[in-house]
Amino acid sequence: MTLIPHLFQPITLRSITSRNRIVISPMCQYSAHDGHLDDWHLVNLGRFAVGGAGIVFTEATAVQKSGRITHGCPGLWCDSQIPGHARIAQFALQNGAIPAIQLGHAGRKSGMQRPWFGNGPLNDQDFARGDMPWPPVGPSAIPVDAGWTVPHALSVEDIEQLKQDFAAATRRALAAGYKIVELHGAHGYLLHSFLSPLSNKRDDIYGGDLAGRMRLVLELAEVVRAVWPADLPMFYRTSAVDGTPDGWLLEDTVALAKELKARGVDVVDCSSGGIAGPATSAAGGKRQPGFQVPFAERVRTETGLASMAVGLITHPEQAELILAEGRADLIAIGREALVDPSWPLHAATALGYDSDFSTWPIQSGWWLVRRQATSEFYEPKGMK
Ligand SMILES: Cc1cc2nc3c(=O)[nH]c(=O)nc-3n(C[C@H](O)[C@H](O)[C@H](O)COP(=O)(O)O)c2cc1C
Repeated sequence: MTLIPHLFQPITLRSITSRNRIVISPMCQYSAHDGHLDDWHLVNLGRFAVGGAGIVFTEATAVQKSGRITHGCPGLWCDSQIPGHARIAQFALQNGAIPAIQLGHAGRKSGMQRPWFGNGPLNDQDFARGDMPWPPVGPSAIPVDAGWTVPHALSVEDIEQLKQDFAAATRRALAAGYKIVELHGAHGYLLHSFLSPLSNKRDDIYGGDLAGRMRLVLELAEVVRAVWPADLPMFYRTSAVDGTPDGWLLEDTVALAKELKARGVDVVDCSSGGIAGPATSAAGGKRQPGFQVPFAERVRTETGLASMAVGLITHPEQAELILAEGRADLIAIGREALVDPSWPLHAATALGYDSDFSTWPIQSGWWLVRRQATSEFYEPKGMK
């Protein structure tokens, strides 16, 4: 009997079964038009479905127009945006992958530069390109950092509107055919900024102690769960730590995860950082392989919730070990999937799960197994 590597063991969450444990992490493309997805998004995400991933995430999608990170970020704030998402969801399903979407609001970081134009606040060059600013919002009138626009502190009425918009966007995500919804609670965007004591200085029910700072996230989790069908899974992406002792801490994440579990969240996706700049994975300094795995491990151990590990997981054996050691239930791959969109198919070979292209799409696998049996391959001699 051949043992199935952990990475290729299916996982069932509510009524949804993923063919393996590999998730393509949400990755912004900054290429939407007035929040609408186009062919780029279909082909970009489609290649990951064809590449063998179990779950494929569509990038951070704004529930309000003003909640986009950049002018190029997608939304689900209106019905005309549904078809672009529906094509992606349908293609993923047709190719064996579970389509998932990350819903969020960029908060204090909304209306910033596309990364290739600087990844900071919009400036005159961006205005000249037509990327005009809009007023950002946050828990308190505290900017991300020096040089960033001071956000408008959301009123309780604004928060009620936000809840309605999260509910409406969730309904549209369902109509588009997604099977997993994730709340984006990481990287310094709106939800994270309410959690962190560094950015939330409110003195009403949405601020103060841990319970107050968690209130918005928990209310939004309830709102989304109420709309999202009971047989479909819900994920939450956390910035597990801010990275400073006076910020959001890992024990706060554990406390939050317990509350999210009680509200029907199935998986906590464990990232970090971003409250005053880029997320940890994009910030300066050298990161170690799997640097965020300890967060996924701690959440999983202390809450009994399923967890997803992400961040510099690049090698199949590394991913397999994380699962085998019980440190996470799912492995999210981001940048390595940009290097190799067929990473899951190659991982299946590397882990001895597929020696005959049987996990490949039939259109390719049928030929490749025959080529393998009948061909000799060029051996590099080293170019002088
Ligand atoms: C191009 C790009 C876009 C990203 N966009 C998002 C996003 O939309 N939402 C999110 O939560 N994280 C986003 N991230 C972070 C990734 O999901 C992931 O957490 C991070 O890249 C670390 O994983 P990796 O080392 O496997 O790339 C993005 C990363 C990249 C490289």
